[in-house]
Amino acid sequence: MKAIYPGTFDPVTNGHLDIIERCSKKFDKIIVLVLNNPSKKHMFSVEERINLLKDVTSNLENVHVESFTGLLVDYMKQNHVELIIRGLRAVTDFEYEMQMALMNNRLYDDAETFFLIARNKYSYLSSSIVKEVASFHGNITGLVPEKVEMAIKDKLKGV
Ligand code: PNS
Repeated sequence: MKAIYPGTFDPVTNGHLDIIERCSKKFDKIIVLVLNNPSKKHMFSVEERINLLKDVTSNLENVHVESFTGLLVDYMKQNHVELIIRGLRAVTDFEYEMQMALMNNRLYDDAETFFLIARNKYSYLSSSIVKEVASFHGNITGLVPEKVEMAIKDKLKGV
């Protein structure tokens, strides 16, 4: 069975990577889908986010990285995928995740969302908090893969 793990991934964190690794053991194929929202400002372009994701998942044979602009359910219908994977960190995630899961299911009856509880050590982790800490020269080692840490530092050079 194949499943889709959608997100913004600006950039991928060790929390995302943990979800990808755990799912890759349970499903035949995982599509990590970078959703492109042109109206939002991002640190990394879609191409950069894809390249970082491909790099950090290169050891996982059944993980494929792609991007899409539009509704997630439209990608799912076009590519015959019915399962969405999302990670749940704290209770604060729940309302937003429930809203998305119900809306996706309303738009596409066959779409089901499976939630994985984030590991304790990643339960406070988000791309935004990593970028904020890095922007003030805080230590982000261990929160993102090494390649991503270097890419963030590169972006912030001269800012
Ligand atoms: O990593 P994020 O930012 O929490 O991911 C949110 C994402 C990209 C999965 C969500 O915003 C999304 O699916 N966007 C695509 C547009 C869409 O389908 N919107 C309706 C979802 S209910």
